[in-house]
Amino acid sequence: MKATAVAPANIAFIKYWGKSDDVLRIPLNDSISMNLSGAQTTTTVEFSPVYTKDSIMLLGGSFSEKETDRVVDSLSRIRESVGVGGFVRVVTQNTFPKGAGAAASASGFAALTVAGFAAAGKSMTEKEQTIFARLGSGSACRSIPDGFVQWQKGNSNDNSYAYSLYPHDYWDLRDILVIVDAGMKKVSTTEGHSGVTTSPLLDARLRQIPDKIARVSHALAHKNFQELGEAIEEESESMHSVMETQIPPLYYRTGATHVIMEAVVAWRNRGIPAYFTIDAGPNVHIICEAKDEDKVVQQVKQLGIGVDIIVNTPAPGAHIVDRHLF
Ligand code: DP6
Repeated sequence: MKATAVAPANIAFIKYWGKSDDVLRIPLNDSISMNLSGAQTTTTVEFSPVYTKDSIMLLGGSFSEKETDRVVDSLSRIRESVGVGGFVRVVTQNTFPKGAGAAASASGFAALTVAGFAAAGKSMTEKEQTIFARLGSGSACRSIPDGFVQWQKGNSNDNSYAYSLYPHDYWDLRDILVIVDAGMKKVSTTEGHSGVTTSPLLDARLRQIPDKIARVSHALAHKNFQELGEAIEEESESMHSVMETQIPPLYYRTGATHVIMEAVVAWRNRGIPAYFTIDAGPNVHIICEAKDEDKVVQQVKQLGIGVDIIVNTPAPGAHIVDRHLF
């Protein structure tokens, strides 16, 4: 009754911002992402009659009461679905800072789902796993399938799920993640999503989504890096424009974020093909092809901003491993 899973964070090329159902976490639009090799969560789950309460531990950090409740809710959904009772011990570990927009909730709920069902002895299809992970945190559904992933928004619990578009070894891209602030973000994404309809720019954003999905899909199919880069940079700007015009506004990007964004555009004008994208935090994901990795890393170092650089390749989705954390 013990299992361990590893799950990657993912960077959204087409972003999930806003839900049509807050409880089921049904998104307003489809999204597309790439799993990240350098930002992963490992989680061990054990069901045992010896335990007298659920215990949840983050190695090298701590969970707030709210976060603990969210994990317990996920465990309860697993218990209910499998029909097992009893308490659980969960130990989890991230390779990257929690809450800094590096999508710890995505890798966290993906790893918890896969380890939780395996520990409970129930085998699930990948689609079912993505549905369960989505209920914990929307973007977590994209951390389960391999490599490059699409989340079909759907309109019910059963048809809002994620699937792999291409495996991780399909295209040798890099996500050079520049951590400018490893602290917790001020406003959680769950809270942020709920204000989305107060932005006057939301309708315009949603109207553009089908075209952007088509551009990203075409770029992936043809490995057209410029087409991909242009679409994802526009998309990141579109989402942050909505965030920043919500009431109250959400400013996830800081001065350092903007310095890096401008630098990426300047490098491109000097012949280094790289594009930025930013999730709900100040850190910048710089997307480039493998051949340009060294150049981009060198440029980032020369800027002298940022506390850490994580070089990511496209990664497999969540999977079971043999080595337990306890
Ligand atoms: C900006 O998946 O963290 O990273 O479903 O409320 O847990 P909840 O939200 P979450 O939102 C992620 C938002 C984003 C964009 C993205 O990853 O698509």
